[in-house]
Amino acid sequence: MFRNQITSGFTTASQVFLSHTDISIPNITDNRDDTVIKKITLHTLNKMKHEQQKIACLTCYDYSQAALVSANNIDLILVGDSLGMVSQGHQTTVSVTMEQMVYHTQMVKKGSGRSFLVADMPYMSYATEEQTLKNAALLMQAGAEMVKLEGGRWLCDTISKLSERGIPTCVHLGLTPQSVAMLGGFKVQGRDELAAEKLEEDAKLLERAGANLLVLECIPKYLAMQITRTVGIPTIGIGAGADTDGQILVFYDMLNMTQGHLPRFTKNFLEGADSTQKAIFNYAYEVKAGIFPQDEHTYS
Ligand code: KIV
Repeated sequence: MFRNQITSGFTTASQVFLSHTDISIPNITDNRDDTVIKKITLHTLNKMKHEQQKIACLTCYDYSQAALVSANNIDLILVGDSLGMVSQGHQTTVSVTMEQMVYHTQMVKKGSGRSFLVADMPYMSYATEEQTLKNAALLMQAGAEMVKLEGGRWLCDTISKLSERGIPTCVHLGLTPQSVAMLGGFKVQGRDELAAEKLEEDAKLLERAGANLLVLECIPKYLAMQITRTVGIPTIGIGAGADTDGQILVFYDMLNMTQGHLPRFTKNFLEGADSTQKAIFNYAYEVKAGIFPQDEHTYS
């Protein structure tokens, strides 16, 4: 199965894995030419931060997307609850259920190859400790290697509990779509001094509690840079400027397939590309080369 993904992908195995030659566990062999394909792990992501290699990430919702994405140099795949909006057509992510997240994670896992796989914990699936542990376990059993939760310092206990149980966590800070009703819409966060200080403090507290990764959505560029410099764990930005350790976009946004309004922070990578594979490859290349995002995709 994996061999077919590589064969049908835009890149060759050797192009894809050029920058991760030193990571050894676990290995997958591409039978065509004995090239050892290195699985991206949490250790790889930390190493990339410390070596200042940008981490290229995309969301995926099914097997075929994941196979294309994984074969085209994307380090991390997120099964995002954005699927509620871009796949199911809802106005927000709030209606997405645990059952749906497990279903999509299982599909994505089959195509995710070498990419590190993160799955979103949907709305209210981490409201109590018991629910959190049960639901995080379901996502890990579906194939996730990390779970993502939205929120600030109030999540510290939850993150500690998951970490104690050996479940890696990503915390989504800034514009947290599950709280869109409270935020009054999809708006840039952390713009005034107090809010910025609070976000930076949240990031530090969450790292101390055991978080392994941060997603920073729609916050000013200087704040994302400040958080990225302050914490020791990788930061992945979306609408947070070029100075985070990595970038993520929604799969349909970067292929210009999303219906209705497209956020300022996205870019149509299909423009000038002659295939979906090439668009994904170009996105990964631009992230890794520091070409994307530009100021036009960024908030000040
Ligand atoms: O659900 C999602 O796709 C996300 C990304 C936008 C980071 O959380």
